[in-house]
Amino acid sequence: MKKDIHSVLSRHKNSIVTTVLFAASLPVMAEKVEIHTPNNSLVIELNKGKEPQFVYYGTRLTEHDRQTLQEPSTANWSHLQLYPAYGANHTMSETAFAMRHYDGNMSTDLLVSDYGVKAISDKAPNNKDRQGTLLTITLRDNLYPSPVHLYYLAYKDADIIECWTDIENKEKGTVTLSQFYSSCMPIRRGDVYVSHFHGSWAAEAQLTEERLNNGMMVIKNKDGLRNATTDRQEVMFSLDGKARENEGDVIGAALMYSGNYRVNIDTDDTEYHYYIAGINPDNSEYHLRKDEIFTTPRVAYTFSDQGLSGASRNYHRWARSYQLRHADKERDILLNSWEGVYFDINQKGMDQMMSDIASLGGELFVMDDGWFGDKYPRDVDNSSLGDWVVDKRKLPEGIDGLLRDAKKNGVKFGIWVEPEMTNTKSELYEKHPDWVIKAPGREPVTGRGGTQLVLDLSNPKVQDFVFGVFDELLTKHPAIAYIKWDSNAPVMNHGSQYLSMTNQSHLYIDYHKGLIKVCERIRAKYPDVVIQDCASGGGRANYALLPYFDEFWVSDNTDALQRIFMQWGTSYFFPAIAMASHISATPNHQTFRTIPLKFRCDVAMSGRLGMEIQPKNMTDEEKALCKQAISDYKNIRKVVQFGDLYRLHSPYSGDNLASLMYVTEDKNDAVFYWYKTETFVNQHLPRVKMRGLDPEKKYTIHELNSIDNTPLDCEGKVYTGKYLMSNGLELPYKHSVDYHKQNDWSSRVLQIKSL
Ligand code: GLA
Repeated sequence: MKKDIHSVLSRHKNSIVTTVLFAASLPVMAEKVEIHTPNNSLVIELNKGKEPQFVYYGTRLTEHDRQTLQEPSTANWSHLQLYPAYGANHTMSETAFAMRHYDGNMSTDLLVSDYGVKAISDKAPNNKDRQGTLLTITLRDNLYPSPVHLYYLAYKDADIIECWTDIENKEKGTVTLSQFYSSCMPIRRGDVYVSHFHGSWAAEAQLTEERLNNGMMVIKNKDGLRNATTDRQEVMFSLDGKARENEGDVIGAALMYSGNYRVNIDTDDTEYHYYIAGINPDNSEYHLRKDEIFTTPRVAYTFSDQGLSGASRNYHRWARSYQLRHADKERDILLNSWEGVYFDINQKGMDQMMSDIASLGGELFVMDDGWFGDKYPRDVDNSSLGDWVVDKRKLPEGIDGLLRDAKKNGVKFGIWVEPEMTNTKSELYEKHPDWVIKAPGREPVTGRGGTQLVLDLSNPKVQDFVFGVFDELLTKHPAIAYIKWDSNAPVMNHGSQYLSMTNQSHLYIDYHKGLIKVCERIRAKYPDVVIQDCASGGGRANYALLPYFDEFWVSDNTDALQRIFMQWGTSYFFPAIAMASHISATPNHQTFRTIPLKFRCDVAMSGRLGMEIQPKNMTDEEKALCKQAISDYKNIRKVVQFGDLYRLHSPYSGDNLASLMYVTEDKNDAVFYWYKTETFVNQHLPRVKMRGLDPEKKYTIHELNSIDNTPLDCEGKVYTGKYLMSNGLELPYKHSVDYHKQNDWSSRVLQIKSL
């Protein structure tokens, strides 16, 4: 085993000896095993016949640090077992695992039986090659033969360690799992703040930052499908006082699951907070058959000493390399038909929208909901889901006609589907009423439109059907470049008509196993098509699904002001290249707020730019501004989509300003965004210091989307990176425009280029 892959520290009779060998053949002793990423180390103490113990997670250790590493429990008592199982030792504290054994025994005692570290080189779920170090720890109970395997995968070129668990049943028959968390991480008490995200439809990723106090914090979701609509499963811990964007130590923990989850942060009478996260066990007791293996979802941890933004950059780099499809390709600028025409789809209208987006400089047109249904045409939201055939009344020349028009207009073509769903008013439901999720013996409770139901993806026939929706579209029309995969209902009924009555509690879990199987099949056959992950907006922004998708719809709310807040929260864990952000009409269709187009463009340009509007209703002046924004975006697209994010000034700060920037890895190009979020006379806004530039380099400033009669004072001037980062630029709080064009909104986008 090479020394640069891992180090094993052996402690024997209080003396610590560095060794690059495993102690498998040595006498009984405790070993400290370290795995590391470029800048982080995780150290676990492994002692055969004892529980695995947390020792250290933080900045990468030096050789000297390894020699002197302290036992975390040196000063005070804490329980630092990494996978506490219920019943034998742990009954009073929170546990990660609980099982009713074959003989009815509810206690488990998971002790280290084997472990090993190896270099791995495999395919990440987005199909990219990855390299890292995998620590596997096998735990066994002396009374029972079922092993539990803990995995810790440290990436070679990303500061991420992924952890997950396999639970194997080797008993005489079926066992019942009632807790099956993915991972635990003790976090030293102190002045620890947790940043987490609450939300709702059209109000996703609302940030809450609070000090961790005694007691248990639970963050969870029980939607069944859209697990990022309400609370989010990703959290950041600021370890040394109130959360700061660009200073301080931060641990990030992103659970990577697509279904119901539960994140527990327990603070008891010991010296640590205990993070325990995984699948939500509520109503999900799992019967594991003999020889079956239950694999938990993963948790991706990071550590950064550069504040919240530093932790975000670690997630973004990892995501762009391994957790998102085609993240090395620039995203197309698109027009989506939804807010422009809603269900009013017809061939002429689609052709007009394609021609309009082409003339504005866009590259892709996406036809949203409303194009399908034969017996039951989809004119409103109460019918036809499942009947994925073109409505010939609206589109007499079918998808081929649309593809022809797209070609004529010089844009790519994309289409909306919601394949996991049906309506009681649909041919699919008439044919397969047994495919829907519903409680045994009861009429189904319906969702959107009063008729929507979820298909039961635990059923392999339903999996084939959902795959078939993609297969049919893409086989018949290989020129389709983009699919928006939507999902607009929760599981409102508990019951599978496919699962046995004994296994009804598997529904939530088996649904998501089925979903991932379908995603894998789609990607195996259609690796190139761009797929958007949408679920009533950002309801499925999660790292279990994103490896199969190219991006997600941040929110159905396109109001530029609320988007600043939602995109701010979303950016904690997800990179700009994945965040679909569209310019929409005014008054906004969700908040009815009227925001000038300039501000709307400036906000949309901080993510993956698109439009969600009827261009034919825009004035020539508005079209010209959008055309300019699209053309400018093409110049900064690489910086936004592949650059490093620095959040500079939080919209949550309460002082009416939000600011962020992206900087390329070579620090030659940057884009700076500045948004005034409220207006008062005699208002005082802080000057924003930039980040991430090279202090030694000189940069020119150029304002994009400028609407002012006179250029900014800094326009075209040259500043050192040092000046921009230690001082920042003064920006006027208002736009200098003619009197009749004045309004209460103000925003700036600055392109920054090194000389
Ligand atoms: C959901 C999506 C929207 C749109 C509609 C169509 O709400 O989030 O973007 O596609 O469905 O019904």
